[in-house]
Amino acid sequence: MPDLSVDIHKLHLKNPVMSASGTFGYGPEYDDFMDVNRLGGILTKACTSKNRDGNHYPRMAETPMGMLNSVGLQNKGVDYFIESIYPKIKHYDTHIIVNVSDSTIEGYMEVAEKLLPLENITGIELNISCPNVKEGGMAFGTSCTMAAAVTRAVRDVYSKTLIVKLSPNVTDIAEIAMAVEAEGANSVSLINTLLGMAIDAEKRRPVLATITGGLSGPAVKPIALRMVWQVAKAVKIPVIGMGGISNATDAIEFLLAGATAVQVGTANFIDPSVCIKILEGIEEYLVRHRFSSVKEIIGGLSA
Ligand code: SIN
Repeated sequence: MPDLSVDIHKLHLKNPVMSASGTFGYGPEYDDFMDVNRLGGILTKACTSKNRDGNHYPRMAETPMGMLNSVGLQNKGVDYFIESIYPKIKHYDTHIIVNVSDSTIEGYMEVAEKLLPLENITGIELNISCPNVKEGGMAFGTSCTMAAAVTRAVRDVYSKTLIVKLSPNVTDIAEIAMAVEAEGANSVSLINTLLGMAIDAEKRRPVLATITGGLSGPAVKPIALRMVWQVAKAVKIPVIGMGGISNATDAIEFLLAGATAVQVGTANFIDPSVCIKILEGIEEYLVRHRFSSVKEIIGGLSA
């Protein structure tokens, strides 16, 4: 059987397939559909320094080949995560990576510092790319200066693996990737959602309460692939690719574009066992093309 393992900084992943933040709960929600331990990693829903109720409803809308969300980082805060969620997920035999967000640099630092001692949280994904909040979120991820500042501040207090999740709502995503790499990011993940909008023509109203929201799903895949390819050429740290991955072929395309691992997001809502199908499909592809390791196809795009 081919070797599916990959390394993201200090994290040795048994395979390159991870679940994306906000689409997989904290893991137990999917126990009925798969053996979660088979995944390369789980990215939790965003965790902030304080409780956040999220945005008003409606905050989801279906679109052609995708969906819009404007959840607004709803979660009960880092203290609740540590007391009530961590004990229920720490048994997993896979990497649990917490997606960290906030509205201030101090808030990001507070969450990272509190998560650091948790033995089975092996890394964090710094979310500087949520398009659905008035303060923080994407505001940090659309300026090199801000992205660099929050990465440096968190790097100074967090010694485990630090992944930074990038926004596609920028002119040059490679520039932002290089800025966070220079400040100590160990990996970048991309793309978060694209800012979009839906209108109900009959009611002559926006569909979402927040008017705009983040677009995800197969519709964004070509943009995500292009950005992963650009970033993989620009940085030396491993790139984690995501954006519309729905099957093994999609995932393989991201690996060929230069991603070391992938995250599967919106597709989990359609088929809750899709991550395992993707994992098995990658293995089948490697066997069929006689590769002994998944590493042989990473960045393996022929000119
Ligand atoms: C949200 O909670 O609004 C989505 C999170 C994100 O886009 O990062």
